[in-house]
Amino acid sequence: MDANKSDREMEELFKQAQAAAFNAYAPYSGFSVGAALLGQDGVVYTGCNVENRSYGNTICAERGAVMKAVSSGITAFKAIALSTPDSIAPVAPCGACRQVLSEFMPPESPVFFGGSGQERVLTSIGELYPFDSLHELKG
Ligand code: THU
Repeated sequence: MDANKSDREMEELFKQAQAAAFNAYAPYSGFSVGAALLGQDGVVYTGCNVENRSYGNTICAERGAVMKAVSSGITAFKAIALSTPDSIAPVAPCGACRQVLSEFMPPESPVFFGGSGQERVLTSIGELYPFDSLHELKG
């Protein structure tokens, strides 16, 4: 875990994820997700899930935030927070998002998530995506 990120900083990032969830386009699942990704530049890049009537074209909130940041020229991140207001309990990032986040975040990077209840989970991308593979493809 990145010791430089305090609980208070992660709570602040989480608030931005909660705000981002309001923009979710989720008419099919009815399940809104918001993400807030802290760039190495100190800027927070938010994302929400964007669904499609051809369901497989749906983009998760986390990957939306990554695409926003990378297309803005930022390819290294310090932390991510995820809000799932339609679930009382915290919901962890999906497998595809764990893989994509691991491309741009070191294993110790904090991942913080919560639903509409009080419970929060603070973990790391390395804990969520252990035995990471294909490093040999990365320059
Ligand atoms: N979803 C995310 O945005 N992130 C995740 O990590 C899990 C799932 C979205 C995709 C879909 O729009 C809805 O949540 C239900 O799966």
